[in-house]
Amino acid sequence: MRGIILSGGSGTRLRPLTKITSKQLLPIYNRPMIYYPLNTLIKAGIKEILIIVSPERAGDYLNLLGSGKEFGVKFTYEIQDKPEGLAQAFIIGENFIDNEDVAMILGDNIFEDDFSEAIKNFKGGAKIFAKHVPDPERFGVVKFGADMKAEKIVEKPQEYLSNYAVTGLYVYDKRIIEVAKNTKPSARGELEITDVNNWYLEKGELDVAMVSGEWLDAGTFDSLLKAQNFAKEKLDGKMLI
Ligand code: DAU
Repeated sequence: MRGIILSGGSGTRLRPLTKITSKQLLPIYNRPMIYYPLNTLIKAGIKEILIIVSPERAGDYLNLLGSGKEFGVKFTYEIQDKPEGLAQAFIIGENFIDNEDVAMILGDNIFEDDFSEAIKNFKGGAKIFAKHVPDPERFGVVKFGADMKAEKIVEKPQEYLSNYAVTGLYVYDKRIIEVAKNTKPSARGELEITDVNNWYLEKGELDVAMVSGEWLDAGTFDSLLKAQNFAKEKLDGKMLI
């Protein structure tokens, strides 16, 4: 299993904090934000990790993270010229993925759970992780049928579908590269991860697991503040890095 941390984007919602640095390098208690998703991948046993960054901040990531030796893993870096969507990561990462399965995590997602079993037992198709949240309209949302079988995923739905948000950790088999290449940009001009997930869902090959511990997307001022306390109280003693 290869790993990708998607850490580009312009962080406009966090201006002026992100005027001179990348959102995913901002401090979360005593570590840069990216250490948390990186820790999640390392804890899950992933050793080859591609870090996708924006051109403006690439040097900062290299300075901070280096080769990966310090963490017992190997880093590869790629530039995403423009934030053209989460699913673009698999096109940028085509050579790196090299016909293996791949787990992608977003650089601003902070998880408490240990995903090592889920990653070890992955047998193909796609696997995503959902979490019950009070504000599902901020996220991709899973619509469930009567038997709790996922029926579809909708990106930031205007109408209520369920309280289950799709978190920023995704596992795919090697078909993901072709699926991403065949995805058309959405109305907001992005290759949507939700379209990719629906492709697997329509084939009956999307497994939706539940996140049991806490999960935060640290992309707003309020969630950033929450993440600071969560990191101090719940994560600090359990981090590998
Ligand atoms: O956090 C989970 C949510 O992430 C999911 O529920 C949604 O389905 C998914 O679309 C995404 O929603 P966001 O609104 O949080 O996406 P955002 O555009 O903020 O991007 C998420 C992170 O990925 C952010 O830290 C920046 C980075 N990014 C984003 C884009 C669009 C990139 O590195 N490149 C990109 O092209």
